[in-house]
Amino acid sequence: MHIHKYEKIWLLFGIISLLAFTVTIGVSAFYMGNQPPSCLVTVDPTKLDTTAPFDQPGLKQVGEKDYELVVVASAFNYDVGPEKVIQVPVGSKINFIGTTKDVIHGFEVAGTNANMMLEPGYINTVETTFNKPGKYTIVCNEYCGLGHHLMFATVEVVE
Ligand code: CUA
Repeated sequence: MHIHKYEKIWLLFGIISLLAFTVTIGVSAFYMGNQPPSCLVTVDPTKLDTTAPFDQPGLKQVGEKDYELVVVASAFNYDVGPEKVIQVPVGSKINFIGTTKDVIHGFEVAGTNANMMLEPGYINTVETTFNKPGKYTIVCNEYCGLGHHLMFATVEVVE
């Protein structure tokens, strides 16, 4: 069978691309430990007020520069504890643990890789490290109703 020269070049290009992407995904998953958001942990959205850890939303320090932020989203608010502004020192890693009481909300920490969906009945988590001081706005990026644009909270990273 005769294969045209340009056809061979394209085939080779396709095969090399496929290998490159496979290696990239492999390294990302098995060496760097990246995983897609799981959404495999469930919770009763009607009993969040009495279910740990969502009965006490807010920031908890779990290590020297390790934090957990428990977030309960609802139309149209992020409950991140008594204050709307979370403060952590620069270099801190925060594990965001979130769910929602009512409808699907987004959860994005603008300017970072933290971006997940909050679905009723499911717990979702995302982790990010803050190496630069500044104010990072948590925004809802799933349209959830009339007050969608009012949903926000702030992570303030201080020296
Ligand atoms: Cu919550 Cu949009």
